[in-house]
Amino acid sequence: PAAKKAKLVGLAELRGQRIRVRGWVHRLRDQKGIIFVVLRDGTGYLQCVLSGQVAQTYEALTLTLESTIELTGSLQELPEGKTAPGGHELSVDYWKVLGAAPGAEEAFTNRLNEQSDASIQADLRHLVIRGETASAILKLRAALLSSFRDSYAAHNLLEVTPPCMVQTQVEGGATLFKFEYYGQQAFLTQSSQLYLETCLPSLGDVFCIQESFRAENSHTRRHLSEYTHLEAELAFIDFEELMSHIENTICEVVDRLLENPSSAALIKQLNPTFEKPARPFKRLNYVDAIKWLNEHGIQHELEDADGNVVKDEQGNSKMVDHAVGDDIAEAAERRMTDILGTPIFLYGFPAELKAFYMKKIPSQSGDGPVFTESCDLLMPGVGEIVGGSMRIADMEELIVAYGREGIDPAAYYWFTDQRKYGTCEHGGYGLGVERFLAWLAKRYTVRECSLYPRWPGRATP
Ligand code: 4AD
Ligand code: MG
Repeated sequence: PAAKKAKLVGLAELRGQRIRVRGWVHRLRDQKGIIFVVLRDGTGYLQCVLSGQVAQTYEALTLTLESTIELTGSLQELPEGKTAPGGHELSVDYWKVLGAAPGAEEAFTNRLNEQSDASIQADLRHLVIRGETASAILKLRAALLSSFRDSYAAHNLLEVTPPCMVQTQVEGGATLFKFEYYGQQAFLTQSSQLYLETCLPSLGDVFCIQESFRAENSHTRRHLSEYTHLEAELAFIDFEELMSHIENTICEVVDRLLENPSSAALIKQLNPTFEKPARPFKRLNYVDAIKWLNEHGIQHELEDADGNVVKDEQGNSKMVDHAVGDDIAEAAERRMTDILGTPIFLYGFPAELKAFYMKKIPSQSGDGPVFTESCDLLMPGVGEIVGGSMRIADMEELIVAYGREGIDPAAYYWFTDQRKYGTCEHGGYGLGVERFLAWLAKRYTVRECSLYPRWPGRATP
């Protein structure tokens, strides 16, 4: 009978039938003249058994890993006691090679293995993604993005697609990638926030999933030069509602992923000890966080006026206690989440440390720093995954904020107009997709959570 063309997903429905499948040789084993192939097609894996005459051909004897092949045979549930990925087995009666891979052994097992250098892994990222772990991360990433979209749709946030080529900054001029745009200067976007704000009077609450770019010379586990930025903006909310919305969204997305059997299986594969975060998330005011760090002996590197780390004669960084007004750096943040072991909303940062658009906390006394209605969500193992705030709704206040940041308001006329023509209290946030995924899948670095990660010096493949 004619064989039914099949993908390697949902095979239970095809048990007992003759099927024809195509894919890549993922694993290969020759056992006393019987060839076992684990086939991979991106949707799943299938163990295929070549025995008798079909295992004696020249092609069978020279078959290598990563060759593309087509196989026809009958599909069975795996006999009891045997294990193979997917839980089925194909007894092959006809097969052919579609694309040979003569050098694959050398490339995939000799050059590329767990011991190979990070730079080789990076150069061969296009091959790394064929692996079980890397492809599982990419599948989970797709499921994560779908869950966010579903969750936002359920709460009436509309998806928009703002531009990546822009002429305004959002998060400070120091981290802008600049380029020439028809004789003018333009930048790669750092954040789509300002554009989302302009959508509120047009579309109501909105979100986007867009690449953001940061020219930071940071070689850390959690910085990329280009990352996928999920941002949302909500009208007529207050600060408390903003934090609840962020917490609800994160928890709802995790619930959706765990309810779906295929994404739940990916989480189990990548992060077997994963547990849903406990609610409500811990909330820690910035000033209390500074106290907490000092009580726990968590210090930071002393910097001179130019921002250089001060070292002693032995070349060790000079460590000092935190003071109100200090930034809470990555290392301190990580120690904090490691000790507390739960998600933490750090909120109420000094305006000095934060971007120009953030709303100041009303009715503060004259002296001391001015604080903002801002929050970062920190996750164990990663640190900051979300940055959000209420926005300045008042036009005069915004003009003052431009001045403090050294921004020429002319280029921002369209952003200012939001305050001119029917302003509203509003707020929003940005979530780093790779950082969220690093937390969910328990990855050491965000570089594992991007298809083709970019960091200083790396834009290939
Ligand atoms: O805290 P950030 O800079 O906030 C903004 O850009 C706001 N305008 C967002 C908004 O309110 N709409 O960035 C938001 C998040 C961070 O919490 C972090 O998860 C991620 O973006 N992020 C990075 N991820 C990877 N590599 C980098 N270099 C990142 N910089 C920020
Ligand atoms: Mg931030």
